Amino acid sequence: MESQHIPVLVEEVMMLLRCEPGQIFVDATLGGGGHTLEILRRTAPDGIVIGIDWDEEAISEATRALMPFGERAKIFRQSFVDLPGPLRAAKVEQVDGILLDLGLSSFHLERGQRGFSLKVEQPLDMRMDDRRDLTAADLVNSLSAQELEQTLLEYGEERWARRIAKAIVVERQRSPIRTTQVLRKVVLRAIPGRFHTRKIDPSTRTFQALRIRVNDELGNLRKVLEASWRFLKSGGRMCVISFHSLEDRVVKEGFRKLEKEGKDGVGSGGVMRIITPKPVTPSEEERKRNPRSRSAKLRCAERV
Ligand SMILES: C[S@@+](CC[C@H](N)C(=O)[O-])C[C@H]1O[C@@H](n2cnc3c(N)ncnc32)[C@H](O)[C@@H]1O
Repeated sequence: MESQHIPVLVEEVMMLLRCEPGQIFVDATLGGGGHTLEILRRTAPDGIVIGIDWDEEAISEATRALMPFGERAKIFRQSFVDLPGPLRAAKVEQVDGILLDLGLSSFHLERGQRGFSLKVEQPLDMRMDDRRDLTAADLVNSLSAQELEQTLLEYGEERWARRIAKAIVVERQRSPIRTTQVLRKVVLRAIPGRFHTRKIDPSTRTFQALRIRVNDELGNLRKVLEASWRFLKSGGRMCVISFHSLEDRVVKEGFRKLEKEGKDGVGSGGVMRIITPKPVTPSEEERKRNPRSRSAKLRCAERV
C-alpha cells in the first residue's frame, strides 16, 4: 500500500525557524510540501515560501498539496544549488530562513520505476531528477572495479567494497546489470553469509552509495552550504535535516567553517553562529510513529 510522506521533526524545525506572519522562507527540498505547509500556516496571512525540488513527482505532489495557499507558495523545479534563480524570479533578495530536509521521499521508494528500493524489482535508475544523464545502471556497468570499490567505500562505508566491486565486474561480463534485484543478488553473494544480518539488508550500503553518487548528494550539499548563507537576513536561520552520518558530517563541518570564516581575516567574525552544538533528534514518540525518522539529525545555524 502506498503511504503519504510524513515530514520529520516538524515541531523542532518550526521552533528553530521561529516563523512569524509575513516572513519569507526557502524550502530547498520541497518534497510533498509537508514542512512548507506548516511554515505557510505559521506565517499566515501573508508569509511566503519559495519551494524548490528537482523531482517532477515531488513538484506535482507539492503543487496539489499547496494549492489552498495560492501565490504564497512559489514552486520551482530545479536543483537547490541554483538558489539565486528562484529568488530572482520571486523578486526576493534575502529571506528569514532556509530549510533542507535531505534524503528520499516516500514516493521515491514506493512509486513508479525509480530503482531506489532494494525490495522490489525495478530498473536500476536512482536519479531524483530524470533530466540528468547518469543512472545507477550506467555506473554499475561502466566504472572500473577500482572506481566501484572507491564509490562503495566513500559513499557507503561498505567494508566488503572490494569483494562487491569484483563480483559486479564478473557479473556484468556475463550480462549487463540493469535491475535492482540482479544487483542485490550479486551483492548478497559477495558478502559472506555469516555477515548477513536479518535487521538490515546486506545490499543497503551499496544502494546508498550508488544513490549518493548518481545524484552527487554530498557535492550538492557542500555547495548549498557554502553559498546560501548570503541569502539570509541577519538573524535568519538555516535548518538542515540529514539521514546518515556522511551527510551529517558535511553539515557539521560546513556550519563550523561558516562560524569561523573571517575571524582570522579582516576581523569581521564568522558569517554564521551555530545554534545547535549537538544535533536535534526525534522524540521516542516520533520514532515509534514514523520509523523513517529514526536516523534524522537536525542542525541549525543563524546568520550573524
Ligand atoms: C525528504 S524529501 C523532502 C520532504 C519534505 N520536507 C516534506 O515534508 O514533504 C527530500 C526532497 O529533496 C529533493 N532533493 C534532493 N536533492 C535535491 C537537490 N539537489 N535539489 C533540489 N531538490 C533536491 C528530493 O527530490 C526530495 O523530494
